[in-house]
Amino acid sequence: MMAFLAIVLISFTPLQEKKKGGPWQIPAEYKAKKNPHADDEALVRLGRAGYGRHCRSCHGRTGLGDGPMAAQLETDAGDLSDATWQAKFNDGELYYMSFIGRDEMPNFEDKITDEEERWAIINFIRSLK
Ligand code: HEC
Repeated sequence: MMAFLAIVLISFTPLQEKKKGGPWQIPAEYKAKKNPHADDEALVRLGRAGYGRHCRSCHGRTGLGDGPMAAQLETDAGDLSDATWQAKFNDGELYYMSFIGRDEMPNFEDKITDEEERWAIINFIRSLK
């Protein structure tokens, strides 16, 4: 009986279902971090290139979380293009989630070392909404 139930449960669990990461604990120093390039449209191109190289594989071209690697993740990568989600965070908080990361969200401190490129990626994410 238990085996039967287990099979029924497994077969009704959608393959796409992912666990939600839950709220981020963002340190005060990042909450207070100011974007020195805020609203700099010129950086969106650099940001798009950086995003394409480092982020698109999981987050998808437009931030929907539908990149080619997303299927292998256990955690929902969220929807970076969602304006309601974006409005909850300032650029410093986005910076923390984007470059420090946690669990399946990789740390990029050693891969993206240029501060300007980091903020350019944040500006690009802002342009997705
Ligand atoms: C290997 C796949 C992968 C790559 C590459 C990746 N991410 Fe993520 N990202 C995730 C996952 C999974 C989460 C959700 C993590 C969690 O909630 O614990 C996430 C979460 C985020 C979040 C928070 C989203 C939310 O809804 O809370 C931001 C912002 C983010 N990523 C930005 C980036 C940026 C910017 C890059 C590139 C520099 C990047 N990510 C590269 C997998 C990835």
